[in-house]
Amino acid sequence: KLSIQIISKQVKSILGLAPVCGFQSLAVLSRGVSFSPRQVASDASFHSVSFSESDHPRVLITGGLGQLGVGLAKLLRKQFGKYNVILSDIRKPRAHVYQSGPFIFSDILDYKNLCEIVVNNRILFSNFALLSAVEEANVSLARDVNITEMHNVLDVATEHGLRLFIPSTIGAFGPMSPRNPTPDLCIQRPRTIYGVSKVHAELMGEYYHHRYGLDFRCLRYPGIISADSQPGGGTTDYAVQIFHDAVKTGNFVCNLRPDTRLPMMFIDDCLRVLSMRTYNISAMGFTPEELEQEIRRHLPDLQVAYETDPVRQAIADSWPMVFDDSNARSDWGWKHNYGLPELIQTMLNFTGSNFRMLRAN
Ligand SMILES: NC(=O)c1ccc[n+]([C@@H]2O[C@H](COP(=O)([O-])OP(=O)(O)OC[C@H]3O[C@@H](n4cnc5c(N)ncnc54)[C@H](O)[C@@H]3O)[C@@H](O)[C@H]2O)c1
Repeated sequence: KLSIQIISKQVKSILGLAPVCGFQSLAVLSRGVSFSPRQVASDASFHSVSFSESDHPRVLITGGLGQLGVGLAKLLRKQFGKYNVILSDIRKPRAHVYQSGPFIFSDILDYKNLCEIVVNNRILFSNFALLSAVEEANVSLARDVNITEMHNVLDVATEHGLRLFIPSTIGAFGPMSPRNPTPDLCIQRPRTIYGVSKVHAELMGEYYHHRYGLDFRCLRYPGIISADSQPGGGTTDYAVQIFHDAVKTGNFVCNLRPDTRLPMMFIDDCLRVLSMRTYNISAMGFTPEELEQEIRRHLPDLQVAYETDPVRQAIADSWPMVFDDSNARSDWGWKHNYGLPELIQTMLNFTGSNFRMLRAN
């Protein structure tokens, strides 16, 4: 009890705080102090800063075996060291991923297990994940994973003084948002559970920042196109699948209307480092028809049929057509490297050489 009083006194003097009513306990970490929203009275109002810049951050990527996590781990390991970046998921990693650095099983719905990982591994930075079309098919799973886990991650991050990055999406906007262009701040009334959960995450993260001083950052990504990882069931997946089918069979069936314009980005641009709270970022925009025409310049025999999926089409019709990322460009110099010609060249080089290798074996 005495040591808690001493720590509490030190913390208050470090932070210059007046005594807080109903304050029950606090967590002191090796790299700073922080307060758990699960432990603090609802009328408490203060900020804590709990990150020491002196060491390499240790990063936990939850839901890390998805389209973005493995690439992000590779990039961060180059920057912070192999053992400072831990991938976690509820699936078994492929051998090359398992051998590439630390991996642990972790279900983000399990709060105690998350705390254990964060404490045992002295984690300072966390990032987590799920996708759009998959979620519409299972609303209660989406609620559990993207909303309950969000609360777990926010609480663990605040309690243990972590920096938290949560990727958001163009899906956080809806049919009432301006779609061409869509600015950072505007009406957000998404009609998908994916979008609703992402708006919830954005607002909760900002609230925890203002209320508890959580260092929360969030970027809204457009559709991500990657060559070496599969998309996880999103509305923009067609823009990855078309490359595989174009190279393998020359035939592709597109589940969006040919004139559906959506903002897109190549994965290498999406994984570059960030430093803000909630920003739109984008790289290029195209319709299935425009993508088809561009790919046909390299593969003239490509045939594309359009069999519109009403669920995905309704989602796409409610999403931004053009993403206004001018704030990210002017505030911190965001600039993309891959436009449509570079994207097509890179994707066709990768899928083409992969296909030739498979055929040769
Ligand atoms: N890929 C895109 O085009 C895109 C675009 C915009 C935003 N984002 C956002 O980026 C993030 C990552 O996206 P992604 O494409 O890598 O996702 P993904 O769907 O490919 O991967 C999600 C991962 O989460 C894991 N997972 C599911 N339930 C879990 C649980 N209970 N505990 C732990 N792990 C669990 C899955 O096994 C999977 O490996 C998401 O937040 C997504 O909303 C992605």
